[in-house]
Amino acid sequence: MPEFQEPDTFAALEKREWAKADVAQSYAKVFAKAADMVVPTLVAAVGACDDYDVLDLCCGHGNVAVGLLKAGARVTGLDFSPVMLEMAQAAAPDALFVEGDAMALKFEDQSFDAVTIGFGMPHVPDPPKVVAEARRVLRPGGRLAFSVWCGSEVDTALGYVFDAIAQYGSSGITLPPGPGANDYADPTLAFPVLEKAGFTNCRQSVVASKWQVNDPGAPYGFFLEGTARGGALLRPQPLANATAIRAAVVSKVIEKHGPGPEWDVPIPAVVTVAVAV
Ligand SMILES: C[S@@+](CC[C@H](N)C(=O)[O-])C[C@H]1O[C@@H](n2cnc3c(N)ncnc32)[C@H](O)[C@@H]1O
Repeated sequence: MPEFQEPDTFAALEKREWAKADVAQSYAKVFAKAADMVVPTLVAAVGACDDYDVLDLCCGHGNVAVGLLKAGARVTGLDFSPVMLEMAQAAAPDALFVEGDAMALKFEDQSFDAVTIGFGMPHVPDPPKVVAEARRVLRPGGRLAFSVWCGSEVDTALGYVFDAIAQYGSSGITLPPGPGANDYADPTLAFPVLEKAGFTNCRQSVVASKWQVNDPGAPYGFFLEGTARGGALLRPQPLANATAIRAAVVSKVIEKHGPGPEWDVPIPAVVTVAVAV
């Protein structure tokens, strides 16, 4: 009799994918070229400066930590992926990095002046819990800032790839239920969650992050190799589906951004900032 296999949960999928060295390293090397462009906005949004204690949640390979250190802050980074933490420590040796879950922080109440979360919100099963934890560890007046990719209502590589998956992907390949990838870019969703947790003065700004590529299919590869959610949808596709998805992404890049031979492919982000009451 075949062994019964527990269905994957969103939490298990995220933990398993980010623990893979090839996924984490590919994210850091290529996908994060766009995420890196958002770092200055996150650092400015929390007002990081000398002697600020900043907690960087879902710190990944340490790109936000590097920006915070440059602004003079003392930085603690937290992530649940040991591979990411190893890269972060190498990139930002002056920061302290700890392994942990962003939904259950082992820090004292009111122990930080600011909290940053670079593209972590879509990856946690319970984003309001992370917001509540951020509020708990922040001193009154401290700021929380987080970034989230814009959804396909704007011109974005994320839309090219996920629309192509919706159109050409195998119907048998789905993700376990979890938060939407772009939910927290939406102020009507993000602001009430922030206010309920004890934040005020919620604001958002858009960053025109992008990838510079010389292959119009590159964004397909970036999602395939360097993301948890996209990778879990793309890696198991049968060859015919994978080929059609990639071809649709190539067509979209050329249709929107010309014949090349080089392309600036937009993948804009929203940065949300709020002040702890
Ligand atoms: C898309 S990467 C973002 C990395 C980096 N902050 C940036 O801005 O590019 C998401 C990171 O969140 C981490 N992560 C996801 N869920 C987490 C959780 N519940 N607790 C801690 N880290 C988590 C992953 O391991 C991964 O490093």
